[in-house]
Amino acid sequence: MAAYANAKLFYISVVFWLILGVECYSGLSNHVLTIMTGGSVTIPCHYDEKNPPQKKYWFSEIDTSKIYTDTIEENLSVIDHPDQSLFTVTMRNLQNNQNGPYYCVVETEGQPTVTYELHLKVRSAPDVSVVSSSVSGHEGGNVSVQCFYSSGYQNELKQWCRYKDQSCYTVGRTDTSQNSSVQISDDGRNSFTVLMTGLRLSDSGWFFCSAGEAMNPVYLTVIEAEQVTVHLTVTEAEPGSVTTDTSTEKELRFSLSQN
Ligand SMILES: *[C@@H]1O[C@H](CO)[C@@H](O)[C@H](O)[C@H]1NC(C)=O
Ligand SMILES: *[C@@H]1O[C@H](CO)[C@@H](O)[C@H](O)[C@H]1NC(C)=O
Ligand SMILES: *[C@@H]1O[C@H](CO)[C@@H](O)[C@H](O)[C@H]1NC(C)=O
Repeated sequence: MAAYANAKLFYISVVFWLILGVECYSGLSNHVLTIMTGGSVTIPCHYDEKNPPQKKYWFSEIDTSKIYTDTIEENLSVIDHPDQSLFTVTMRNLQNNQNGPYYCVVETEGQPTVTYELHLKVRSAPDVSVVSSSVSGHEGGNVSVQCFYSSGYQNELKQWCRYKDQSCYTVGRTDTSQNSSVQISDDGRNSFTVLMTGLRLSDSGWFFCSAGEAMNPVYLTVIEAEQVTVHLTVTEAEPGSVTTDTSTEKELRFSLSQN
């Protein structure tokens, strides 16, 4: 039975590579994402900002379907975000029969390239999980993310990585390539906590927590400090008014940049 399943999987893989004539991206890595039965997940698929592809799709090896941007269905959405040079794939109501490999694929001049490969496992308990897949912090402030892992992962390498360039921060490592603005502490039992301090606007984007091959994505939004100041000042000056005074905004931006 297992041999048959393996042979079948191999056959499907070969057909897939033949049909697409796929070229692999250098940043391709093998990630395992475990999601609870009935759960949802959003996965980012980055593409080259200087040379945006003509076609972008999510490929399932389970039913060999290609879901192009922009598709919105009850249980699956594939949405392009050209401003961020990525498309996101949201899978909802996940069921056990959806286990298997999935790919982010981009096509330029008819040439498909797999930019990301993911192995999805729908289980009663996830291997790596986060309380919320979306966190936010203010420019200059801090944000912390707690990443939970199951007992089998206690001795695996724990990391916090940025999708875009696949740069990672590792628990217990102090190599010089790491920014001191990210600190990771592992309780050694079932979670590790990532603290990002002195947030910059450029820190906004997709990250993932990982333990060994198991991972889970998190979206970080860094809110501009200027916007907060402007909002508070306008509210103070004109209580009850909803309109934005653009001259006040300009003056504030000016005074902020002077500091
Ligand atoms: C979405 O998933 C649920 C749960 O598996 C299923 O009952 C429903 O039919 C799905 N919807 C579509 C449009 O496939
Ligand atoms: C951010 O974290 C640093 C380091 O732990 C701490 O010194 C600082 O007070 C924190 N800032 C805020 C706004 O919480
Ligand atoms: C590390 O910090 C420097 C500036 O302090 C910044 O330019 C760089 O993008 C940071 N690297 C990462 C991976 O965040």
